[in-house]
Amino acid sequence: MSWQATILTLFPDMFPGPLGLSLAGRALGGGVWSCQTHDLRQHGLGRHRAVDDTPFGGGAGMVIRADVVDAALSAIQAPEGAPRVFLTPRGRPLRQQDVSRYAQGPGVVLLCGRFEGVDERVLEARGIEQVSIGDYVLSGGETAALVLLDACVRLLPGVMGSDESGVEESFSDGLLEYPHYTRPASWDGRDVPEVLLSGNHAAIAAWRQKQAEEITRERRPDLWSAWLDRRERNEAAAGRSGQSGRTGV
Ligand code: 6GU
Repeated sequence: MSWQATILTLFPDMFPGPLGLSLAGRALGGGVWSCQTHDLRQHGLGRHRAVDDTPFGGGAGMVIRADVVDAALSAIQAPEGAPRVFLTPRGRPLRQQDVSRYAQGPGVVLLCGRFEGVDERVLEARGIEQVSIGDYVLSGGETAALVLLDACVRLLPGVMGSDESGVEESFSDGLLEYPHYTRPASWDGRDVPEVLLSGNHAAIAAWRQKQAEEITRERRPDLWSAWLDRRERNEAAAGRSGQSGRTGV
């Protein structure tokens, strides 16, 4: 059984889009995952197949109707237990741990909104999670859905080239990754850090760890303080059990 993405959208032509190319595209062609779109317009009302209406209480913009979304959810065939996700800047931030949870399940049902939003009642009543991909506003949820799917698909078994690159990358241990260098060793008057040419693997690992910590501290104080807290807890736990060193996250 392959991992199944089902997407409810007013713009089905936006899928698979860039996910039809490269790594994800090869996996799509190879049957590792599937991408089925369902046009919300099919469930619109009246001659114009309207999917939205003006907001109760007034204000700008239009709101996608609860009955339209519900009809679309009833029409699709998604795997049992696939989480339902509405992409919205009002959602909780998407994190690698969410992506990992989605990738380990049977697939996802993604609801992409346009306009001001979706009637809150259908989100509550049908157990739809609300997720944001960052603190900025997109014109619709479709590009956010593509981001979420890209992050999931690369984790599916057999998709990523080497299993190693999944372990050391940014976020897997809560730090941003150390910087990378390749040939030429000297470019435009800039030399690669000497330790990387030393062949001393312990020294290289220590240098990379220090770089990862410094970059995280500078760029992402939120991740840095979470990492410090975790390290402190691990060291306390190691102390209690008479060990030294870290015990994993
Ligand atoms: Cl998930 N959707 C839209 N429309 N805008 C966003 C977003 C999602 N995440 C950040 N901005």
